[in-house]
Amino acid sequence: MTVNDFIPKEAYKTSANGSVTWESPSNIALVKYWGKKENQIPANPSISFTLSGCKTTTKLSYSKKETSNNFSFEVFLNDEKKDSFKPKIDTFFKRIVQYVPFIKNYHFVIETTNTFPHSSGIASSASGMSALALCLMSVERSLSEVEITSNYFNQKASFLARLGSGSACRSIEGDLVVWGAHNEITNSSNLFGVKYPFEVHENFKNYQDTILLVDKGEKQVSSTVGHGLMHNHPFAEQRFQQAHNNLSQLIKVFKEGDLYAFINIVESEALTLHAMMMTSLPYFILMKPNTLQIINKIWAYRTETKSKICFTLDAGANVHVLYPQNEREQVIEFIKNELVAYCQNGQYICDQIGFGAKQLTMSS
Ligand code: PMV
Repeated sequence: MTVNDFIPKEAYKTSANGSVTWESPSNIALVKYWGKKENQIPANPSISFTLSGCKTTTKLSYSKKETSNNFSFEVFLNDEKKDSFKPKIDTFFKRIVQYVPFIKNYHFVIETTNTFPHSSGIASSASGMSALALCLMSVERSLSEVEITSNYFNQKASFLARLGSGSACRSIEGDLVVWGAHNEITNSSNLFGVKYPFEVHENFKNYQDTILLVDKGEKQVSSTVGHGLMHNHPFAEQRFQQAHNNLSQLIKVFKEGDLYAFINIVESEALTLHAMMMTSLPYFILMKPNTLQIINKIWAYRTETKSKICFTLDAGANVHVLYPQNEREQVIEFIKNELVAYCQNGQYICDQIGFGAKQLTMSS
């Protein structure tokens, strides 16, 4: 597939108005995307677990307008008008208009809610942008004269979501999604996420992710700035190569169910992501003292109990605690007894691997 395959070739039907609702999950990367080229092309391939409980529900209502000069839309979060979201959506619309040209002909009302608190420090961009991209694809499908297959629908939804926020392209399907061309992964692409195509051992079924909310404040450095700092970064080339190698190794790990090898790759990826931040110019640190306290507690617990618990981090201070389903009871007990004390207001979210986005309603 190339970029041109996502430009519609046929004229659209005219439809006066309608609405569609999608819910779309967040995802957590195991091999991290950090660094990009022009047009949201990743500097290296990444792979993530799609989550289940952490998700965004978005209703997109559309009505035909007279002129097609500008984008016209309103945004609501939890029923409240959210003008502060508008610039990001405007940028998104500018990036995608050549692929979904109908967006100039309609006025949109975007009503969105998240299952997790907006200010929790959990990025809502992956679930939010993928939900909006899926809504736009449903509108495209209802306006299209030609049939849109479900494979094309998902690929283009992921392609559009990527242009909103890179990691959002990994939220359309589940339970493991690869984004970025990798020479051992069939059909992998820099343009959209694809379902991981190879065998996955039982050990990874229903894998658990408990998210410890360490710091709910605004991040001092945005992901956009962080990605930018990978240009001219002294370790960039080695890092990008490492991501390719780690993904190659994971193919065997997923097949054989080797949880110790999994832990080594996942924790190394998390710490490398933050090492890249600490060695950028300017350098910055997104972990907090409690992030490190938690990591040390997890390591001590693993040594003591031989548990297969491990951690990963995204671009922030929160800790994702990953563990197999059969350890759920003991690990939750450990979290309550030893880790909750390091969470802001004692907050944490229990989630697990999920299977992708769902359409809830459609009327046209
Ligand atoms: O999608 P963005 O631009 O917010 O970047 C997200 C990057 C990480 O979450 C840190 C890693 C990843 O692969 O999701």
